[in-house]
Parts: sequence; structure tokens; C-alpha cells
Amino acid sequence: MPHMTAFARNQWYVAAFAHEVGRDLLGRTVLGEPVVLYRTETDGTPVALADRCVHRRYPLSASGLDGDRIVCGYHGFTYDTTGACVYVPGQRRVPRTARVAAYPVAEVDSLVWVWIGDPALADPATIPRAPHLDAPGWVTVRGMEPIACDYGLLVDNLLDLSHETYLHGGHIGTPEVAETPITTEVDEGAGTVRVSRHMDDAECPPFYARSTGIDGRIMRWQDIEYHAPCLYLLHSRVAPVGVLPEPDGSDPDAFHTEITYCITPSADGEVYDFWAVSRDWATGDAEVTEFLRSGNHTVVMQDVDALNLLQRTLGTERAGYQELSINIDTGGLAARRILARLVEEGDKPVERVR
Ligand code: FES
Ligand SMILES: [Fe+2]
Repeated sequence: MPHMTAFARNQWYVAAFAHEVGRDLLGRTVLGEPVVLYRTETDGTPVALADRCVHRRYPLSASGLDGDRIVCGYHGFTYDTTGACVYVPGQRRVPRTARVAAYPVAEVDSLVWVWIGDPALADPATIPRAPHLDAPGWVTVRGMEPIACDYGLLVDNLLDLSHETYLHGGHIGTPEVAETPITTEVDEGAGTVRVSRHMDDAECPPFYARSTGIDGRIMRWQDIEYHAPCLYLLHSRVAPVGVLPEPDGSDPDAFHTEITYCITPSADGEVYDFWAVSRDWATGDAEVTEFLRSGNHTVVMQDVDALNLLQRTLGTERAGYQELSINIDTGGLAARRILARLVEEGDKPVERVR
């Protein structure tokens, strides 16, 4: 397949929002591996198992729960939360090889993260944080859209916001976004890319004019923080022109909005686009909440349509096509380098303790 970014396996990925995981079995595919997710009855801990019964590979996500155990919907093989099979029909002896993989799981900031690679390397302390997603005082709208594209195309898309002017005009894009140069900072070791664009006198796009009530021109600051491979944060600051943060760092007259994306490769040419918009202003205003939810959903669908189209287009190009990059691509190119390094490091044989 053309233009496919390899998967970094030894990394945490968001498989679901916390609210999606419950007592109904949820099937997702992460890095090409089918996964079934649920919560235990005993203490609500999320569980992630391989979504294929060892017997005839029936999807466990299409099966049922008996307490904390999954009973395969085809012939009844029964699995506990560790993936071990504890019952097979018609015989006492359960074959020793009857087990499905159990993936390390962590629930952090209302996101359910899974680790598909070597379980011995999974350390939940390394999960990048997005505390605004469930901190008190913040209100969040969220959703998930699958896209039929290489996940690298979504990384490119999010690291360059100059496309807002063209693809999202009338929603979040104004001429100043594309016109204002960016600054980029890369921390190769930490695997992070920061891209900033500070517009000090810009048109206020409808997305912010209608939600904040500011009329007139604005200072609009966009500070992206990408934690490769999965978590993308956009710190957005909007204020009337000339209103700066106080010397002590407080910023009472500005509107701060946190835009979060989780980029989870599902399979080759398939990606889950988890999105969220969080705010700590007008938190009691249900109309603002609904406006930001539907407005951001519209914007996300513009990206989804564009990336579906782009992937189909790349699928028809001749081999060896040389793409052209400019300044706005600095962040995206840095992200590609980091992803390539994570893939390479994850593929190195791991020293095992015997
Ligand atoms: S396929 Fe699951 S029990 Fe037969
Ligand atoms: Fe976009």
C-alpha cells in the first residue's frame, strides 16, 4: 500500500473514551490487533483482551459477559480478565493453550489507554497527560471519527493549522492563520513537537465570536504540543486585541480553550480520530456547550472528508512521487522523524530477564 506510516508498537494508545467502556463489550482495532474492552463488575477496572476466541476466532466483542468473564457467543469458551480460558463445553479439561492476549490498560484523564507491544515494557507513568479532560471546573465536548487514511496524514493535518484558512474557512479559519509564520520546537528525546502561532491582531472566527461573545478583532494564540505518537494538545488563547496576560501569569480577560486529539492507528490505512474541546469559561452555558460540540464536529468532518479523499488520491499516484514541503510543514516533518525513530527503537530486540 502506498504512503503508510509504520506503527510504533511499544507505546500507549487511546482505545476509547472512558465513558465508552462499560458493561457492554466494545470492539476496537488498535495497530491492526482486534481488541475487546469492558469494565469489571467488581471494581469497574477496564479490561482489554484480544477480540478473537481461540476456538474458531469468533469476535468476543459480539459475545456476552457473565460477571467479569466473557462467554464466547459461538460455543461458550469462557475467559477471565487475564485472558485465561476457564471453561470449554463438553469436557472437563481446559487445554493449556486456551487463552487470549490481555493487553495492559490504564485509565487516565477520562481516556482508556492500551499497550499492544511487549507487556513487560508497559509503564503507565509514561502516559502523557491531558488533565483538562476531567478536571473540576472544565467542561468538555468530545467525539470520535474513524478515517480511512494512514495515521501519518492525520498527524500532518493537526501539526499544520494553516489549513484552517482554506479547509475550515467560516468556522475556525481566517486569513491571519495562514499568513502568520510559526515557530517550532522539537524535543527528540521526549518525543514532543511544539508549534506556535501567535496572531496579535486577527479576525475572530465564528467558532470563537459566537461562543465567547467577543466582537471585533482578537489576539489569537495557538500553541500545539504533540506527544508522539498518540496525544495532541492545542492550547488556544483568545482575547480582545491588546489584552495580555498579567505579569503574574494570570489571564482573567482571555478565553482559554484546550483542544485535544488522540491519534490511534487502527489498521493500515485506518485511524481513529478522537477529539475533544474543553473550556473553563461559560461552563454553565448549555448553548455554548452545544455550539462548540456541533461546531467542532463540523470542523472534524471537514478534515475527515479531506483525509479520506487525500488517501484515495495517494493510492493512485505513481511510485516515487516527490512531495514538496515548506516552512508550515516543519512541525509535521519533525513528527515524522520522531515516529520513524519510535518504530525503529520499538523493533529492537528487548533484553529479557530470565
Ligand atoms: S468460536 Fe468461541 S467457543 Fe467456538
Ligand atoms: Fe483541520
